[in-house]
Amino acid sequence: MKLGVNIDHVAVLREARRVNDPDILNALFVACQNGADQITIHLREDRRHIQDADAYNIMKHSTLPVNLECSINRDILNIVTDLKPHRATLVPEKREEVTTEGGLDVIKYEDEISYAIELLHDYIIPVSLFIDPTIEAVQMSKKLGAEMVELHTGTFANIYAMLHSSLSHSNHSIKELQLPRHELAIKLEKSIADITAAAKHAKKIGLEVAAGHGLNYHNVHEMMKISEITELNIGQSIIARSVFSGLAEAVKEMKRVTAR
Ligand code: PXP
Repeated sequence: MKLGVNIDHVAVLREARRVNDPDILNALFVACQNGADQITIHLREDRRHIQDADAYNIMKHSTLPVNLECSINRDILNIVTDLKPHRATLVPEKREEVTTEGGLDVIKYEDEISYAIELLHDYIIPVSLFIDPTIEAVQMSKKLGAEMVELHTGTFANIYAMLHSSLSHSNHSIKELQLPRHELAIKLEKSIADITAAAKHAKKIGLEVAAGHGLNYHNVHEMMKISEITELNIGQSIIARSVFSGLAEAVKEMKRVTAR
């Protein structure tokens, strides 16, 4: 399985203070040196984390292929064609969202997506479409000329967390998923079946298949069972885990440099 490490969250932390710490290039080098197969970043229209300069620096210094997520906004596409990443993944974007909430509406935005794919292909940039795991979306992605689809695993991840973690007892409990456990279990099975069917169909019609969003150290094993999925793009859970695999050392180091 190819692992795309999404390092956006390092820039989220940096932007919270507007200083150059943590440095996104350090994150790039650590990911490159520790088994990532690809670097994934999302240049958002609102530039809430990755900035244009980050994208250029990452393109310049990455020893791994860069998968650049972007919307179909023309200004953003112009930057992407200048950056020439190894692949562009088209994603939907809403200003008010915390993170990418659903897949691209490939039916509603057929013309805009078709324009974006043609433009990117003019610059020899292969295109993946981040879609909900439905047969219709997969079919449409093929028709539009994408090389690849990335199946949105957010619904699966939400149901998994409500069923198997303490999320339902927390402030972040998901209202529409506050259901009896047996109902959540049925929904979870359905979400896995949807992803499996979409992945199988995509492979059958000649699309490469990735998956991503909300995947973590607990739920990812379900995606590993789907042989048609050959790539996972994972961000938040890796950066969250790194806080705790590194916090002890960071405290010790500060204690050492402040010792008298
Ligand atoms: N794939 C795509 C297309 C995304 O938009 C994101 C979030 O930026 C991810 C993967 C990674 O999601 P997460 O941070 O939840 O692992």
